[in-house]
Amino acid sequence: MPLSKGHVLAKKYEIVEFLGKGLIFEVYRARHTRLDRDVALKVLIPEVAADLEFARFVIKTIRATASLDAHPHISWVHDIDKDGVYIFFVMDYLPVDLNAVMHKLDVESSVNVTLAILDALSYAHKNGLIHKDIRPSNVRFSESGEPLLVDFGMAEIAARAAVKFKKTAYLPPPTYAAPEQIKSFSLADERSDIYSVGAVLYHMLTKRPPFSGDIKEIYYQKLSPHFLPPKPREINPEVPPKLEEVVLKAMENDPENRYQSADEMLSALLDVRRRYIARFMPGHYEERRPEGAFGMKYKLRENSPIQVASIEVPSVILVNVPYQITVSLVGDGRGKVRIEVPDFLSLSAPAVQEVEVPADVSWYVITTKERYGAYDIAIDVVYDDVSILESPIRLPFLVLPIEGKERKAGKKTIFNLFGLMEGG
Ligand SMILES: Nc1ncnc2c1ncn2[C@@H]1O[C@H](COP(=O)(O)OP(=O)(O)OP(=O)(O)O)[C@@H](O)[C@H]1O
Ligand SMILES: [Mg+2]
Repeated sequence: MPLSKGHVLAKKYEIVEFLGKGLIFEVYRARHTRLDRDVALKVLIPEVAADLEFARFVIKTIRATASLDAHPHISWVHDIDKDGVYIFFVMDYLPVDLNAVMHKLDVESSVNVTLAILDALSYAHKNGLIHKDIRPSNVRFSESGEPLLVDFGMAEIAARAAVKFKKTAYLPPPTYAAPEQIKSFSLADERSDIYSVGAVLYHMLTKRPPFSGDIKEIYYQKLSPHFLPPKPREINPEVPPKLEEVVLKAMENDPENRYQSADEMLSALLDVRRRYIARFMPGHYEERRPEGAFGMKYKLRENSPIQVASIEVPSVILVNVPYQITVSLVGDGRGKVRIEVPDFLSLSAPAVQEVEVPADVSWYVITTKERYGAYDIAIDVVYDDVSILESPIRLPFLVLPIEGKERKAGKKTIFNLFGLMEGG
């Protein structure tokens, strides 16, 4: 029996509407009367909440995932509460899910959503948590259009609930689930999440899920090693071949053949975006590359065999566009030089390099992940673990989005979707 409109839980959550029902949860939109904003409540159905041992397991599982909320692309519980027979979890109310915006996504936006999911997964996996149920209804959007992965831990709970209350093995919704996860839920690991991300990206790019039919047909297709969905480019020729390769690699039947980590897939996808997606083609940005660089000359340390003559950093850089920074060194002999940059800059050259001196000019290509604003770049040149400079030097630079589309500068912005949520 769903809770009725107007029912108040824990003296502050007023039920507004019933949103849907899963195996053991009912989901409601509610008004947080003290903060005066909408929230979503997942309420354990009372028969399940009455099973103390199971309720304890649910709370423990949810508690273990709650810290993930610190990531800008994960949204999950910010409260657990109880009122009479009701045990419930409080989440952000996020009415828009990926199903609702799928049709509006072009190739680049699809890649951006995927990058955000992968960034979230990388964080979760490093914290020892696997999602196990990535699909479009568990990718939701904030008001400003940022993708958010939701429902961590829910698959685990559903699996246990199926055994306990239905006396059956848990069958995950099969369309986006990895084959090994369908064979046995306990076989799922990080690479099963990679498969699901690939399947969701497939859907975004082709506007159809990689598998269709009724549930039995999908199970059959997934479990037969010879069945493969049509390649994305057969459905949408606008998908760059290298992007198709990323999708197919993520969706390999054998986990050993997939990307082995979210980070690995993230960097492959960033590379594809930088190189093959139109707005990021060379020439396209070359003409807009702002003039000017911050350069500096340095007082040399007398007793060091190598010296820094000058360092140059572009004053303005665009996100995801490669730029050169130059470090000129003079001296004699061979030395080890380390250039240290902030974590959101990726440096093409390995951080530690053998360089030939004297009078060597080292070129480093830097690329920013999306993080707009004014920053200092700290560069340290180290020889035999001793800094050649008095201390790391700081050079100011400005990170700007690619021109042409306006981006919202929300405080959590990482991969924003160019006003995707505007205009309905
Ligand atoms: N944070 C949220 N904000 C708003 N609506 C939500 C939120 N979480 C879930 N819902 C909605 O509540 C309903 C049940 O959600 P639940 O997560 O239990 O099911 P789901 O399997 O992820 O979704 P679906 O039934 O759409 O596949 C769905 O209609 C979903 O769209
Ligand atoms: Mg869900």
